[in-house]
Amino acid sequence: MVKIAVLGYGTVGSGVVEVLTTNRESIAKKAGDEIDIKYVLDLRDFPGDPIQEKIVHDYQVILNDPEVRVVVEVMGGIEPAFTFVKQALMAGKNVATSNKELVAHHGAQLIALARENSVNFMFEASVGGGIPIIRPLLQSLTADEIVEISGILNGTTNYMLTKMSEQGLDYDTVLKNAQDKGYAERNPAADVEGYDACRKIAILASLAYGHQVDFEDIYTEGITKITDTDFEYAKKLGLSIKLLAVCKKQDEKVFAMVSPVMIGPEHPLYNVNNVFNAIFVKGNMLGDAMFYGRGAGKLPTASAVVADVVEEIKHIHTNIRINWSMDKLELADMKEASHRFFVRVSRDQTSMDQVRELFGDVDFVQVKDGEFGFVTPMMKEKDFDDKAAGLKGMITRIRGNF
Ligand code: HSE
Repeated sequence: MVKIAVLGYGTVGSGVVEVLTTNRESIAKKAGDEIDIKYVLDLRDFPGDPIQEKIVHDYQVILNDPEVRVVVEVMGGIEPAFTFVKQALMAGKNVATSNKELVAHHGAQLIALARENSVNFMFEASVGGGIPIIRPLLQSLTADEIVEISGILNGTTNYMLTKMSEQGLDYDTVLKNAQDKGYAERNPAADVEGYDACRKIAILASLAYGHQVDFEDIYTEGITKITDTDFEYAKKLGLSIKLLAVCKKQDEKVFAMVSPVMIGPEHPLYNVNNVFNAIFVKGNMLGDAMFYGRGAGKLPTASAVVADVVEEIKHIHTNIRINWSMDKLELADMKEASHRFFVRVSRDQTSMDQVRELFGDVDFVQVKDGEFGFVTPMMKEKDFDDKAAGLKGMITRIRGNF
């Protein structure tokens, strides 16, 4: 019997207990041993819940118990999670986590520490919840050089954009719905400003290119400025608006961004709706691959965490190499990246002729009085910004990939 400890009895922590209880026998067969939760660390008590007999409030109890071979960190946030994980690895315990902030900030360091101590630090649930993407990138796609990763990596915003598109609901209503369903982060800015997706693409880019990609370096724009009128234009153009997290290799340079993007039905992420996440990966040998599933929620996330626990038990004395060095990858300047742009302008400040003078031969689109929209050809961000500086009455602009 392998003893494990779970740090945090919140949504994911209670999901881990449920997964291990529900699938106890089949998991034991796959792990080659039974898994027993010896401790659950939480500040709170849970009177009446059978978990109470395992609750401890002092992490030292877990750290100093040599029987505990795997620590599951599902507390979230940087501290005290970072200190607890470091201490566990240094004590020769394996760690499985769903904590994307921890992994994005300190993944390279914790991977190195696990290696030094001949244990494993695994984090499948940190990106895409229950969708297998970390292990496929590290193992199944290891023969490829990754050309592009484009993902819908935040369930809350995808749910919101889907509802805005399908039902014409306003922004605040759809945000409240997503929060009620338990998808959203405690601080809604983490979802709607794109910070959550930014940390997730930073993790995937670091794994794809083997170097630290600092999330602070990734251009990040959320969905707070997207309106129901933008969706009316998108519909008229036969397009959809999605919050995409992208890293792409062009001319040996890596670009990365999180941004709302207009995409068409031919785009692999066009039909990914509601809380579902999907990650599109292009390899130089494989070509295109897609990973699709539930990117948030108690049981999908817990399923990925428990899969890591099983993997660690199967390799209890062996560190599985992860190529993610602490040396930083310098990202290319976003101003050099090329997109199409959808632009809305106020009719009383700019005429279509003036737009043509600035942008050349563009496609115009009209959905409401007092304004019009147009779509540029592919152009570099810096060229768009130069031209847009001369455009009076610009209401909004959205990047396009169609
Ligand atoms: N708030 C996140 C989301 C949870 O909506 O995707 C999973 O990381």
